[in-house]
Amino acid sequence: MAERWSEAELPLFGGEERINDPDRALKALRKDAADCTRCDLYKNATQTVFGEGPAEASIMLVGEQPGDQEDLAGHPFVGPAGKVLDRALSEAEIPRDELYVTNAVKHFKNEPRGKRRIHKKPDTGEIEACRWWFDRELAIVHPRIVVAMGATAARAVLRKTVTISKTRGELIDLVDGINALVTVHPSYLLRLRDEADKKKQFRQFVADLRFAAESAGAKKAA
Ligand code: URA
Repeated sequence: MAERWSEAELPLFGGEERINDPDRALKALRKDAADCTRCDLYKNATQTVFGEGPAEASIMLVGEQPGDQEDLAGHPFVGPAGKVLDRALSEAEIPRDELYVTNAVKHFKNEPRGKRRIHKKPDTGEIEACRWWFDRELAIVHPRIVVAMGATAARAVLRKTVTISKTRGELIDLVDGINALVTVHPSYLLRLRDEADKKKQFRQFVADLRFAAESAGAKKAA
């Protein structure tokens, strides 16, 4: 990947035509991703669930992969984890429609078991294969900050495996003035059983989102 992105380095989309308009580039990228066969995950999924949000967003949120509901709906974070995310964004007073929301892996990795589809964690090869799309989303949207939610997102964004608890909350230089912030995945909050811990972790998640928004805003004003 280039160390710096400029308009001229935006990837080639739309056949031979180079598209320097971020909205159009994103639309063309989404269209290309619909036919993605870069790894085998498309075989067991309903559709590619591509990122959504304005091409000029200053904050990009990255999750792991679409879940069962996202796979059926074709939109990221619309299921139970999405509800937690929406509640946290609302508490942090961040309008979701101002964010670009995507996933490290764009197909639902699952194992059919009877009528159910069991979520399976994407492996490094699948994350690497899907980074082809993520790198291009990042180059086009060029946010101020990328919030990586959970280990899979952190792996895709930072290109290495990190421990969430050690990396959480720290502003990391990514490329070309873009910062990254690692936090927990909303599904982690859903899995917590102890009510007090759940509340505490949720508050911390909201604080991370607020910090990301402040960092993006502060940089914009500078
Ligand atoms: N979990 C994710 O990581 N992404 C989604 O879109 C939904 C659930």
